[in-house]
Amino acid sequence: MKFQKASVLKGEVTIPGDKSISHRAVMFGSLAEGTTEVTNFLQGADCLSTIDAFRKMGVEIENTPEKILIHGRGLHGLKAPSSVLDMGNSGTTTRLISGILAGQTFESTLTGDASIQKRPMRRIMEPLSMMGAKIVSVNGNDCAPLCITGAPLHGIHYHSKVASAQVKSAVLLAGLYADGETSVTEPALSRNHTEIMLRCFGADVSAEDKTAKICPEPHLQGQKIHVPGDISSAAYFIAAGLIVPGAEILIKNVGINPTRDGILKVAKEMGGNITLLNENNDGEPTADLLVKHSHLHGITIEGSLIPALIDELPVINVMAACAEGTTIIRDAAELKVKESNRIDVMVRYLSAMGCDITGTDDGMVIVGGRPLHGTEVDSHSDHRIAMSFAIASLIAEGDTKIKGSDVVNISYPDFYKDFSRLTQ
Ligand code: S3P
Repeated sequence: MKFQKASVLKGEVTIPGDKSISHRAVMFGSLAEGTTEVTNFLQGADCLSTIDAFRKMGVEIENTPEKILIHGRGLHGLKAPSSVLDMGNSGTTTRLISGILAGQTFESTLTGDASIQKRPMRRIMEPLSMMGAKIVSVNGNDCAPLCITGAPLHGIHYHSKVASAQVKSAVLLAGLYADGETSVTEPALSRNHTEIMLRCFGADVSAEDKTAKICPEPHLQGQKIHVPGDISSAAYFIAAGLIVPGAEILIKNVGINPTRDGILKVAKEMGGNITLLNENNDGEPTADLLVKHSHLHGITIEGSLIPALIDELPVINVMAACAEGTTIIRDAAELKVKESNRIDVMVRYLSAMGCDITGTDDGMVIVGGRPLHGTEVDSHSDHRIAMSFAIASLIAEGDTKIKGSDVVNISYPDFYKDFSRLTQ
């Protein structure tokens, strides 16, 4: 797909449902008793992989454009799948479902696409094995395919080396099946959607500082869930609004959970003009964001802020390329094990566009302010890379071509529709 510099960026955009919350709604609804109704569910390929996996384990799920209905089978009602469970491109499905499968009475095998088969699974295999799970990497490389044989589990107190909501959630979900209390302490707080939503379903979950705890509970109860817009999808238009001269856009229905709102903090610190409107604090907090073109300046992004903006770092790189001065991103080695190696890929193509960017072991250093020009970018089958370079194209002279641009289907199927509407 080909993109060009924007002469205008204005209008309103309503952001589709949050990917992390959509996955969890299907998973917890499947394990609950009764029906769970989910509105504003993200119909992206990753969340559809989650639906598919639970259907294969006997859960009836009705998927209509207005809502999805999950007819839960209870904590012990899943059936052994008759074939391998295909996780597609979804790391969240793979890691969270492993925690659930560890506590079943059957054996299952999980696999996924080429990217999933390269992503590290030792981080969940280790704590789940400590709980008594039998979980084997079929090719012996600590990646999927994984073969999981359900086993009696016991509670553990796990100190995770990485701040990862996927690891934390896998352990907490296995904790639903354990014989006592399970807790996870992380080096920095990662997104807490599992803790919030499991509690709504009736689980005995508590959280304090960087530790989340769960006690086994025999029943979860089906719920009504309205999924807020995904701040990780909003991030592309936040960045666009800040960097395109004269831009003014209203981004509606954005989830602003404090474990996810790092991009708002960073934008503010860089001098970005963003106003929060219509704030709503029921359950997962939301707001509309009014974003105006701003003169950004470079900052340092590090430490406990990183998990709150980990998926937004590629597009934050684009903001930094337009900012005056130097932006330093550190403590973000996790970028190397996402859908692609996002340090390498961002450095390669932003350099090709004329940006002064250097990769480091755990992030990047960007000296902003150089004019960008179009180039040919390969998305590396990574949705966040494709969307970040679509945004970079808005301020680049000449054509930017993105190979593999349709990968946005993973998290934001209507991205190009919204993008062209705002730039018309
Ligand atoms: C996710 C957690 C994050 C994030 C991913 C979704 C989740 O991964 O990058 O896109 O839904 O739990 P980690 O917490 O493992 O870094």
